[in-house]
Amino acid sequence: MSSAAQPWRTPISARITREIFDLVGDDLAAVEREIAAQSSSSIQPVAEISSYLREGGGKRLRPALLLLAAGAAGYRGPGAVRLGAIVELIHSATLIHDDVIDGANTRRGRPSANARWGNHMSVLAGDWLYMQSFEMALAERSFEILDILIDLTQNMVEGELLQLSHLGRIDVTEAETADLAYRKTACLFSGCSRLGAVLGRLDKSAEESLADYGRYAGLAFQLVDDLLDFTASSEQLGKPVLSDLKEGKVTLPLIYAMQSGAGGGSVDGHAAAYRMVATVLEEKGFRSVRSEEITKLVHESGAVARARDLARDYVRRAKASLDGWPDSQYRRALLAVPDFILERES
Ligand code: IPE
Ligand code: IPE
Ligand code: MG
Ligand code: MG
Repeated sequence: MSSAAQPWRTPISARITREIFDLVGDDLAAVEREIAAQSSSSIQPVAEISSYLREGGGKRLRPALLLLAAGAAGYRGPGAVRLGAIVELIHSATLIHDDVIDGANTRRGRPSANARWGNHMSVLAGDWLYMQSFEMALAERSFEILDILIDLTQNMVEGELLQLSHLGRIDVTEAETADLAYRKTACLFSGCSRLGAVLGRLDKSAEESLADYGRYAGLAFQLVDDLLDFTASSEQLGKPVLSDLKEGKVTLPLIYAMQSGAGGGSVDGHAAAYRMVATVLEEKGFRSVRSEEITKLVHESGAVARARDLARDYVRRAKASLDGWPDSQYRRALLAVPDFILERES
């Protein structure tokens, strides 16, 4: 099958523009070699699980962001490739754990690690990958870098824990979903762009603007992920769709749908939407309510359009964080990434 038919295999650099590929293509290839070298272990299941995940592909969006941010910050050196590998390994560990927690059976178009090796081995392989990332980070001999990586990893774990504590709740608020999106996804994006600034030894205010850029790009990314759960196909996405609600997660598109109701905001429409969502949560799956009815609800209530508007606003804010930065190829590439995030279909 061509990579066009397997979009989850294709890195972001090959998907956006020639410009980005030319800028960071070689470095991303070096990140890939670094990840491969660091995924080896004499313990067979660890080596197998980590190389299985790596070979499954992925967009490599986080290392790409880090490399572009470092470039925009004027850094030229080998540290960005090493940190790029570190953030991708942290991302891999969270994916392995996330699929165990969600009971997901597909990732990057293939059986997930838990589907192949079971939960026990997968959890331990994820732990190992976290530790491997931190061992690599230690070699940088920088407390500042360690501080950023530890902070974001704790935030991600806290995000998963908070998400578990919200499971099955129909009254999750918009603010709670924004907090979850920040912890689960945006803090890693923000950490990537901040690390670029740290490598380039930018002053605090420039570092904060790069970190803001990553944070808003990450918030957009998670919101689009939540939307794709309703609008994409699992073939397209390489992972299950229509699964968030079934798993007990009330995401922002559903909150919007319940606020307006399928009847365009009428009291009846509002109540009907609420009842449908409550039924799926109670039954923990699509039994009395069909999945198509939920898809129809999020579309016809205007919830998809409203969530896309918010994602568009995050994208605008991400780009605005770089206002006033001198024009460079790196800045132009950074400005293209949020548009990719908004338009991505996998
Ligand atoms: C998936 O991230 C997890 C979320 C933050 C939604 P990606 O969509 O970047 O996963 P890969 O690495 O490309 O497979
Ligand atoms: C994404 O959570 C954030 C992670 C830390 C993995 P999701 O549960 O939305 O991710 P997917 O949809 O399984 O990729
Ligand atoms: Mg998941
Ligand atoms: Mg998701």
